[in-house]
Amino acid sequence: MCGIMGYIGEQEASRILVDGLRRLEYRGYDSAGVATLVNGSIEVRRAVGKLDNLESLLREDPLAGSIGIGHTRWATHGPPSEENAHPHRAGQVVVIHNGIIENFLELKEELVAKGRTFQSETDTEVISQLIDEHMSEGLDFTAAAQKAVKQLEGSFAIVTFCHGDENRLLTFKTATPIVIGLGEGENFVASDVPAILEHTRDVLFLEDGDMAEVTREGVKVTTFDGEPVDRPSKKITWDPITAQKGGFKHFLLKEINEQPQALIDTMLGRIRQEEGDVSLPELDSLGSDWSKFERIYLTACGTAWHACLVGKFLLEEMARIPVDVDYASELRYRKPILGPETLLVAVSQSGETADTLAAVEEAAASGSKVLSICNVVDASIPRKADAVLYTHAGPEISVASTKAFTTQLTSLYLLSLHVGRALGRFDEKAGRDLVHDLVKLPSLIEEALTSQKQIAKIAKKYGHASDFLYLGRGINYPIALEGALKLKEISYIHAEGYPAGEMKHGPIALIDEQLPVVVLLPRDPMYPKTLSNLKEVEARGGRIIAITDAPTPELEEIAWEVVTIPEANHLLAPILLSIPLQLLAYFVAIYRGTDVDQPRNLAKSVTVE
Ligand code: AGP
Repeated sequence: MCGIMGYIGEQEASRILVDGLRRLEYRGYDSAGVATLVNGSIEVRRAVGKLDNLESLLREDPLAGSIGIGHTRWATHGPPSEENAHPHRAGQVVVIHNGIIENFLELKEELVAKGRTFQSETDTEVISQLIDEHMSEGLDFTAAAQKAVKQLEGSFAIVTFCHGDENRLLTFKTATPIVIGLGEGENFVASDVPAILEHTRDVLFLEDGDMAEVTREGVKVTTFDGEPVDRPSKKITWDPITAQKGGFKHFLLKEINEQPQALIDTMLGRIRQEEGDVSLPELDSLGSDWSKFERIYLTACGTAWHACLVGKFLLEEMARIPVDVDYASELRYRKPILGPETLLVAVSQSGETADTLAAVEEAAASGSKVLSICNVVDASIPRKADAVLYTHAGPEISVASTKAFTTQLTSLYLLSLHVGRALGRFDEKAGRDLVHDLVKLPSLIEEALTSQKQIAKIAKKYGHASDFLYLGRGINYPIALEGALKLKEISYIHAEGYPAGEMKHGPIALIDEQLPVVVLLPRDPMYPKTLSNLKEVEARGGRIIAITDAPTPELEEIAWEVVTIPEANHLLAPILLSIPLQLLAYFVAIYRGTDVDQPRNLAKSVTVE
């Protein structure tokens, strides 16, 4: 997510803006910029990379002015560059934005047809161009901004001001946060509390559909149509570090709870509900004839490899293309059979994992097309690929991957739907159902997140165990592996995941009263078989922790704990089942007092072999 900062008052705006952006650095970014009004004229300074680069630019070429906006960009459209950095200026207007404008291409086409020229590849520039266009049609700044914003589709938080108007900032909010800091003769706008805490603890939070006119004297909150709304001010009691975590104790818990929004952002602009399809123009470079791929190879490391295991089920069921999955660290040395008839899909949160990068290079050298599914725009792996499907999870700070994982699964579902429709594997009606099931998912995740208190209690009851066994079947077997990895990497407890049907071939020897057995049990055709596996566990005293969308009396009788999740399309159950397992790992780690966000021995991105 990008960092947003606005200031209007009597102090030097550029210093306040940069200091505020520094407190938003934890959000991750790849470029930054500020704009102020100097003697009534808009001045902009932008730099790629860290804020130090922007600060050195400001030392060489200072910015005066006591009204301004600043931004740190996490690229979602267009690579990190000075031209793509915010703020974006068009004529009399300058804008910063957090979120994704879903219909920016059609708006851009309309504006170009009116003779406007664009300086960047971003969706954001459409906003400044639209406002300026409406001002050139005779509307005043506020009316022009209101009209422009109502044309936007997608998720956005916008802050803007215009040439010659020293007296107001305008801000608009839909899905991404805006907080307004209330000072004496000065006011602040930010995407998150840490940016303003050193100036004031009196704030008000905008809600979706709110706009605010921010002056030195005060703040007027209305709807986009100008109808007044009441947003009471609040007193922030957090310390700055807690504030960076949005009030959560750890980044990991914050990122687990961010997953509904992360999935929404990953779907944004890609869903075509009416046609029962998805729109992935970023795949056009792979060509439209998917039948030329006889096989798809999914490769990754760690959690991303678990996403590939689920991806095999999705692609084979929805697209009916044979899929192989391999650890990148194995694939790169195995002299794999690759070539033009094979598509290699490399899944990586960071886009910098050395083994995955090497596997990509191996595939490219063998003549395979490469598709990167990645969370960091312009990282090394996307740069090597023929096409990139970006997840829009926003920066993932905690070493343990959670929202990146569920957005990888979302992206693999989008890919499978896209290829399945392209190959005519299912009709528009079936496609509409699949799209509908995906669009429902963020609210189902919100529901799954309500089990946090129950899971915290379970963690206390079983957190002393020295081993855990995770069981799952079919498409959910990889989630058993992922749950075990989450527990291992943040609580340091030995845990392993196993296909439930395999338990009798060895792991059943582990079962005793000391062994918590976490079983994934969605209501699907495998339910009865997995239930009978559970009876074998129960007969040997195993402590069963069942995660299910169907808590039957039979299950309640043999399970020590039952965590219920909402029912979902079986192809999307892996995403839902991940949520309680992430929470279990988190609360066990808390119980054991380990370093949740920076576990021992681990790195967020393994850029060495
Ligand atoms: C997951 O919790 C770990 N942090 C680790 O397994 C990670 O998934 C793996 O190192 C791959 O990283 P990448 O997705 O950035 O390529």
